[in-house]
Amino acid sequence: MALAAAGFEPLILDNYANSSPRVLERLARIGGGRAPRAIQGDVRDRALLDRLFAENSVKAVIHFAGLKAVGDSVSQPLSYYDNNVNGSLVLAAAMQAAGVKTLVFSSSATVYGEPERTPTPETAPLSATNPYGRTKLMVEQILVDLQHADPSWNIGLLRYFNPVGAHQSGLIGEHPKGKPNNLMPFVSQVAVGVRERLTVHGNDYPTVDGTGVRDYIHVLDLAEGHVAALRHALARPGLFAVNLGTGQGASVLEVITAFERATGKKIAYEIGPRRPGDVPASVADTALAGSLLGWRAQRGLDQMCADSWRWQCANPNGYDEP
Ligand code: UFG
Repeated sequence: MALAAAGFEPLILDNYANSSPRVLERLARIGGGRAPRAIQGDVRDRALLDRLFAENSVKAVIHFAGLKAVGDSVSQPLSYYDNNVNGSLVLAAAMQAAGVKTLVFSSSATVYGEPERTPTPETAPLSATNPYGRTKLMVEQILVDLQHADPSWNIGLLRYFNPVGAHQSGLIGEHPKGKPNNLMPFVSQVAVGVRERLTVHGNDYPTVDGTGVRDYIHVLDLAEGHVAALRHALARPGLFAVNLGTGQGASVLEVITAFERATGKKIAYEIGPRRPGDVPASVADTALAGSLLGWRAQRGLDQMCADSWRWQCANPNGYDEP
């Protein structure tokens, strides 16, 4: 939506492993009857990529085709390395062969490991604490090496903090398969009655109220950040890594309160032990995104909660029919 609004003509490649082709009907409703072109296929299918590049005049690629559940990455590392690392290698090789050398990559704040300080700038040391994080870090390093070897590549590494929320129409949002791992979808499911109560993973962190602090960013702000990054990459060869966050941290209890405020619903919760691998706090230093891309997040936590809730209420079964 953000790309089309900015005058780009997106072509989607998706294997729908974690999404649904029904999203396209929703996109058409939001876009006044026009949905972007979409091809069903896998980023590791080199023959398909070669055909897509041959048949379309592609100027740039935004690569989102990654798996992102930390726990699954621990239990199924081969699938994570294959999809995330091998998928990126196949894509970059196909782009190289086709002479398409502008790439915006979905990285993650997970590459900062346990950050030494927050807000965390892009220059902070990089590390990873689980296979998912290692896939993001490896792909960043592969792309740095690629751009070093061939400086005509234009590459943007976008380090997402915690994306939440949904399109304000309530037509597109996140529908995790099974029990949600992430806070906001879990809170929404408690509010709508699908889950009984939230477990707060630890209240003994060195934070404002002892619960984990994160930099939640509205998905529409994130989308606009991609447009800004794409414009920058198309204008200037080189490589940049930027944080996409708001610069504002919120604790788990603050998220619960904001959600209750936005929805008028009470969120039942209990305090549980810390979740292994969680960091106390993760907040973006957003200065570089502002100066380099001219982009800054516009939407606050209340809007993130209100939009998540609108989506959740209208689509209790996600994209599946009731
Ligand atoms: N939390 C709870 N209860 C829950 C779920 C989460 O208390 O049921 C807490 C977590 O302990 C954490 C905060 O809510 O303090 C946010 O947790 P999320 O799971 O929503 O997000 P994370 O910051 O753990 O994970 C996100 C991405 C990962 C990425 C990680 C680090 O989802 O893909 O950031 O960048 F690896």
